[in-house]
Amino acid sequence: MSRRRQIYEGKAKILYEGPEPGTIIQYFKDDATAFNAQKKGTISGKGVLNNRISEHLFTLLGTIGVPTHFIRRLNMREQLVRQVEIVPVEVVVRNVVAGSLAKRLGMEDGTPLPRTIIEYYYKDDALGDPMVTEEHISAFGWASQDEMHDIADLAIRINDFMAGLFAGVGIRLVDFKLEFGRLYEGDFSRIILADEISPDGCRLWDMKTNEKMDKDRFRMDLGGEVEAYQEVARRLGLLPEG
Ligand code: C5P
Repeated sequence: MSRRRQIYEGKAKILYEGPEPGTIIQYFKDDATAFNAQKKGTISGKGVLNNRISEHLFTLLGTIGVPTHFIRRLNMREQLVRQVEIVPVEVVVRNVVAGSLAKRLGMEDGTPLPRTIIEYYYKDDALGDPMVTEEHISAFGWASQDEMHDIADLAIRINDFMAGLFAGVGIRLVDFKLEFGRLYEGDFSRIILADEISPDGCRLWDMKTNEKMDKDRFRMDLGGEVEAYQEVARRLGLLPEG
């Protein structure tokens, strides 16, 4: 591993040069951050679970025709993915009021939304990822209008599929964050799903008890983070029945 060239180290993942041109290895760390990295910690075993959960979700999304960067899982903590140019916009999809939306609009956590809401945040740690509109995104050239059309379309398809998948195992998909990238093919590029989908970037509530099964356990000091992530994996059929 030490012989590989590290390309980037983020808060929860490290990216290494892949074995073939155009490939990258994503290494999933146990590190956890919240509130724009003001709160830092380690959730022992999180990286292994997120690698497995994200593999599962990206594979299923691939089968319904969502283009993704995922190629294959390499081992407990690593997956091989296609190299993309990340669009510097975090895409948040919301089905239920929670988190920053509840705070910003003074609404109660858990209020169902009459329709799915998509929000965009400019990826900039120094600025604390400010919320932006499609106007800003196209005016500043972060993505073209065509690309934003593809991104919104994919985000809705991903939400429809994942909300159903999680509902089937007794979990409410409250909200989640996606990242997209440009895959270059000759002179052209197309938008594909990148990064990861895991309990680090989703709000997942048990449908019966409303118990939080995601990174809010860490953000809110509720404890039981790894057990919650394990339970998500178990319900998705990725761990033996406990
Ligand atoms: O904090 P907020 O309510 O805006 O988060 C919405 C969703 O996006 C949550 O599921 C959260 O985990 C995710 N998110 C993320 N990374 C960020 C911001 C939000 O994964 N930088």
